[in-house]
Amino acid sequence: MTTSTQGLAFEQAAADYAANRPSYPPALIDAVEDLAGRPVAGARVADVGAGTGLGTALLHARGAHVVAVEPGPMMAAQLRRTLPGVSLVRGDGNRLPLASASVDLVTYAQAWHWTDPARSVPEARRVLRPGGALALWWNDQDSTDGWAAAQLARVRRFLGAEDDANQGPPDLMVRFRRLPPGLDFGRRQVAWTRRVTVGTHLANLASYSDFLVRDADTVAAFLAAERDHLSALFPGGTLEEKYVVSLAVARP
Ligand SMILES: C[S@@+](CC[C@H](N)C(=O)[O-])C[C@H]1O[C@@H](n2cnc3c(N)ncnc32)[C@H](O)[C@@H]1O
Repeated sequence: MTTSTQGLAFEQAAADYAANRPSYPPALIDAVEDLAGRPVAGARVADVGAGTGLGTALLHARGAHVVAVEPGPMMAAQLRRTLPGVSLVRGDGNRLPLASASVDLVTYAQAWHWTDPARSVPEARRVLRPGGALALWWNDQDSTDGWAAAQLARVRRFLGAEDDANQGPPDLMVRFRRLPPGLDFGRRQVAWTRRVTVGTHLANLASYSDFLVRDADTVAAFLAAERDHLSALFPGGTLEEKYVVSLAVARP
């Protein structure tokens, strides 16, 4: 499966994605402003790979004039339902459907890794106004210890990712190591948590592309076993997920 094929796996699960994926903490937007050297309010922002609009909504709520760019028709339709007042164009980061020098910020919330940097970096440069910034962020579950570490080990076994590189605690710096070369990125990490039901936690897990591309019955059996594990651990029916958002901002 190619990166571009797996990048569109979310299409089959747009409503579940919107209902269960976490958004991002408000402190993230403060960090974007700090590293970009300008307020988000009043800025013209292209939120690329906007999906169902989780990042778009946050930027819009902070007063940005956002145009959402999304290649997937189902994700785009979900965004239109959630944010009817926000501009949306179909397209992708490798060939942005935007005029040159037209935006102050290009943002990618959990979407940059689906692009081809040889094309998406020049495209971001093209559409940015002088002094503009490119902001990339990823929200990763912090499964360093406790129940989350045990679950990560089960997930890795299920996904067949038991090679040496995937042993041990999760690498929460990995996003920074995979940034495109040739740009000078400022970096920040923002830790945060959310309390959710076991059902929401599992539906969120199932919305990741690694699960979406696998056989549905096998995934359902794995999730049923996870529900048993977690229900025994959390008889109250809720748990706290820990996250770290890794943010990188460059002024190309
Ligand atoms: C993990 S989702 C992130 C969605 C949203 N930004 C969020 O924060 O929830 C990744 C999104 O990237 C989109 N995508 C896939 N390939 C892409 C590409 N080449 N350029 C831009 N977006 C892409 C997918 O359709 C999907 O909506």
